[in-house]
Amino acid sequence: MTAYGMVAGCGENSAAYTLKAIAGQCATDDILRFRSMRLPVALMLWCAVLTAQDPAEITRKPVTTPEDLAAGEQIYRIQCAYCHGTRGEGGRGATLARPRLQHAPDDETMFQVIARGIPDSEMPGHWFTAREIWQVVAFVRTLGRQAPQKISGDPTNGAKLYAGKGGCTKCHTVGGRGGAIGPDLSDIGARRSVHYLRAALVKPEAAVPNGFLLVEIVTIAGVRIAGIRLNEDAFSIQIRDLSGQFHSFWKSELAGLDRQRGKSPMPSYEGLLTSAELEDLIAYLDSLRGAQ
Ligand code: HEC
Ligand code: HEC
Repeated sequence: MTAYGMVAGCGENSAAYTLKAIAGQCATDDILRFRSMRLPVALMLWCAVLTAQDPAEITRKPVTTPEDLAAGEQIYRIQCAYCHGTRGEGGRGATLARPRLQHAPDDETMFQVIARGIPDSEMPGHWFTAREIWQVVAFVRTLGRQAPQKISGDPTNGAKLYAGKGGCTKCHTVGGRGGAIGPDLSDIGARRSVHYLRAALVKPEAAVPNGFLLVEIVTIAGVRIAGIRLNEDAFSIQIRDLSGQFHSFWKSELAGLDRQRGKSPMPSYEGLLTSAELEDLIAYLDSLRGAQ
């Protein structure tokens, strides 16, 4: 929780949070966050009382004066751009520079997505006031009016390269088929931008998603295994090696454990594929939008 969110969430006017709470929509993780901040219950109540604001705010349509757009952009830069890109081009977060967004087809659903986040994803909820959320909604919609990124490649040839020369199925799953060393790519086109996909293929270590830490372990017996960390606690670690095999070790069995942050088991395809082939592959990946 950032200082900004904290102020907005519990300051003079945190209509968004309170209204969510009043409407019984307050997500459990919001409450957990409250707990983890160790706020006394009294302060929570104080917040609730202080912030009982005009419920009309939440149903109001986006505010679109130049001042509101500027305020929305300001919030976006601080709170959203590091995941969604300064121009909504995407990155760790979805591309927002699209005319239609899967989880936010209209302004009301976008309001909810920003306030509550998307469950089981890296998209967090935000404690903004209702007005601030509408300002961000208005700004995000301006991103959607930009021209879409051009894709020159041929997706059909890209699909062939994916299954053939690229050897991607060894590590990735699409539509339930393939290996599990890398992330499932079934909806990668909806989650990531073309720019990000290009970087992922050419410089995989530049775009390692959450939860894919490469580790190298050496057992006391001298066996060396590199793989993706699946789980780790104080006493044990579980990894999937690069052939897809699962391993579990007690840390007491290990002579070495190297967490290779910023490294990727995925090879760079620069040089392995021609630039035309890379574009075809990107066109194919961009076409993968999951089952909708
Ligand atoms: C920690 C990274 C992160 C931050 C910060 C973040 N998002 Fe997201 N956001 C994501 C991810 C990842 C997704 C895609 C989730 C999915 O579809 O599984 C997403 C999805 C969305 C969507 C839905 C996109 C679609 O195609 O339907 C919208 C709208 C959105 N975010 C807006 C925002 C706004 C506005 C902010 C700032 C207030 C923000 N996000 C902050 C990671 C982030
Ligand atoms: C040896 C296993 C391996 C092979 C082969 C491989 N990948 Fe990956 N890939 C990974 C791993 C592990 C990650 C996650 C860590 C990272 O991003 O570096 C990843 C990440 C990605 C990502 C980013 C996913 C995200 O959500 O951010 C894309 C896109 C991708 N791979 C596409 C491909 C394509 C296309 C091919 C074939 C041309 C390929 N990969 C071949 C293991 C592999």
